[in-house]
Parts: sequence; structure tokens; C-alpha cells
Amino acid sequence: MIDLELVQTCLKTTILRPHFIIYDEVGSTNEVAREHILKGAQEGLLVLAGQQSKGRGRYDRHWHSPKGGLYFSMVLKPQIELTSAPLMGLLVSCAVVRGLHKIGVDNVSVKWPNDILLGFDKVAGILCELVPTSRTDFLIIIGVGINQNSRASDFPKDYEYSFTTVRDYIGQTTSQERLLCAIINSIDSLIGVVITEKSYTSILDVWKRMSSTLGNKVRVVDGSEIHIGIAEEILEDGALSVVTEKGKRVVRIGDITHLRND
Ligand code: BTN
Repeated sequence: MIDLELVQTCLKTTILRPHFIIYDEVGSTNEVAREHILKGAQEGLLVLAGQQSKGRGRYDRHWHSPKGGLYFSMVLKPQIELTSAPLMGLLVSCAVVRGLHKIGVDNVSVKWPNDILLGFDKVAGILCELVPTSRTDFLIIIGVGINQNSRASDFPKDYEYSFTTVRDYIGQTTSQERLLCAIINSIDSLIGVVITEKSYTSILDVWKRMSSTLGNKVRVVDGSEIHIGIAEEILEDGALSVVTEKGKRVVRIGDITHLRND
């Protein structure tokens, strides 16, 4: 179980005031966060769990959440405007990469939109959900799942993601307190940049530097259509521009697969 006192001692946030709720096991931390928002919880609520029985990924996929992983959902306000919600997901992806660097994990990159890769395999995922709090206001739940101290043997053999865990990759366990704290500090400082600059331009620059998607050959599944091309650019609103044989396509929702560049 995470030692919250230890986490508190290394927090250096100036904007967010994290308020922690911690469980040994829960269905989904995103669901718990949603219930708390409906009861009046505000920005800063952070729901943590040692494991999840109904962890959810994007498109309602199951997110297997055995002991040893880091699972949390943080409640944030959309910065600048509501349409910036996808950008908040990119911001948190950058914070997760920085957090992993902080605990000594290299070879980490972001894959559009919010997957974190270690080497070529997925090590973490982010699920952003908007929750209306009035006719005009919304909060965002950002759910973060990191395969940190779990092992491949803790996952089903037919698990749908091609994944790895930090522990398997670097051959040792790492501190969950240090990782969580580094991620929260980083979210806080990146939100600070957005507030000061009133734009996500710098966040997108950070994302681009961490990206393993840009310049890569990708397969885009858009409903029933499949397109193959080179991921060229990330646009102001967080969409991905892909150059295909039939011209440019802008991908706003959906999944991509990295393909070999040959
Ligand atoms: C994805 O890559 O599809 C997103 C995975 C997000 C998983 C996290 S674990 C904590 C939070 N609670 C959930 O049920 N999902 C997110």
C-alpha cells in the first residue's frame, strides 16, 4: 500500500491541492472519482487503488490492474476552454513520462493520443472523461494506469495490449511514492505553463519531443475505415495529422498502431 505521508513530503505543487482517497482494491478509480464529483468533489481529488477489479481503458476496454501497478484518477479543471480536454490528456502523458524519468526509467515515449511506451511496448495508459457539474461547467477525470511493479506473469496470456511493465523492463521494483509524487508535481508545473501562457503550445512542444509517433508509419482505424500513412504533425487541438496515399487525414478520435517504417 502506498505511503501517503511519504507522497505528501515530496509534493511541491503550487496550483493543485491534492486531496487523496486511497483503497486497497476498487472497481475503477475513474468511477469512484465520478461518484465523488457528483457529491461535490472539486479539482485536486485523487483516488488511488492498489488494484482494480473493473479497470477501464479507452473505448471501454478492460484495463487489467493487478497488484503492483500504479492506478489513480485525478480530478482537474479543463484549462482555457472545454475543447482543451484532449490536450489535458496529452499534458498528463508528458507528466507520466517525466515521472518515469525521475525514478530512473529511460527509453520512455508517448504514442498518440495518450499511451506511454517503454521501448516498443505499452507501459501506461491514460483515460480522460469529462463530467458536467452544471449547465456550463465540467471537470475532467484523468485516470492513469502504470504497469509499474507488476510482472507480465500477472496478466492474462491473451491480454489484448502488447505491453510491458517497468519491473520486467528494468529488472527491479521502483518506489510508487516517488513516481506518484513526481507525476503530480509535473502535472502541476505543466498546468502552470498553460495558465501563464494561456496556450498549450509549450505542452505540445514537450509532447513532440517525447513522441515516438511523429515520423512513424501508422495504421489509423477510424470507424470502419483503415488508413495507412506517416504521422506528420500534432495540431493545436491535439489531433494527429497523417499523410496517406490519398492525402492528409486529420485524426481526432480513434486508435493508431505504429508500423515498421519500411
Ligand atoms: C488506456 O490506455 O486505454 C487507458 C487506461 C487507463 C487505465 C486507468 S487505471 C486508473 C483509472 N481507472 C480506470 O478504470 N482506468 C484508469
